[in-house]
Amino acid sequence: MTVHIGAKPGDIAETVLLPGDPYRAKWAAETYLEDAKLINEVRGMLGFTGTYKGNPVTIHGSGMGMPSLSIYVNELIKDYGAKTLIRIGSCGGMQEKVAVRDVILAMTATTVSTPSRGIFKEVNFAPTADWSLIQAAYQAATGKGTTTHVGGIYSSDVFYDERPDLNEQMVRHGVLGVEMEAAELYTLAARYDCRALAVLTVSDHLITGAALPSDQRERSFGDMVEIALEAAFA
Ligand code: HPA
Repeated sequence: MTVHIGAKPGDIAETVLLPGDPYRAKWAAETYLEDAKLINEVRGMLGFTGTYKGNPVTIHGSGMGMPSLSIYVNELIKDYGAKTLIRIGSCGGMQEKVAVRDVILAMTATTVSTPSRGIFKEVNFAPTADWSLIQAAYQAATGKGTTTHVGGIYSSDVFYDERPDLNEQMVRHGVLGVEMEAAELYTLAARYDCRALAVLTVSDHLITGAALPSDQRERSFGDMVEIALEAAFA
């Protein structure tokens, strides 16, 4: 047990999928894993461990935003031995070529700040995904016929943003989409020699104003779970 995870030692697999929403973790575990068992429910942050094609997998909520994700990922890596961590989530599209329902594999994540900011001081660390996961996820996503983009995203600290000028600079510099977690995930993975990737569905679009209809959200979330599982064990 850790401060925020009630699982016993050995209850958590080396491969962990991280949706933001704990109920999405429950749905994904019940839909895609065999023998899924609840291993955490501290503060309502649900985690499940089961197997996918015989491989042990944990699907655990990260919560929203980098401070929340940072708590869970620190404990998953340092206390439970997680080695491959894949965020599955949504993002806002930032380029015309990126459409709602497309998948973005986040190669890098720009930020104003992460919970790790303090240790870098004057350095602008470049949080980066694991190449083997990007490659395998790209194959899995394009194999499903999903339009897939690989490139930089922006991990923001705010959903209700009062600084449109920052988004404008991101758009101007080719950033594909905005979400709120990947940069800290990549930074922690780099620090502890783990593999990490964020697989994101474009749920809304900052330029066109388009949004994914609610009846398509579950299907696109399911696609991300499959892409992440295939990538993890490629
Ligand atoms: N901003 C931040 N996070 C998001 C967004 C957004 O517009 N859309 C989906 N996740």
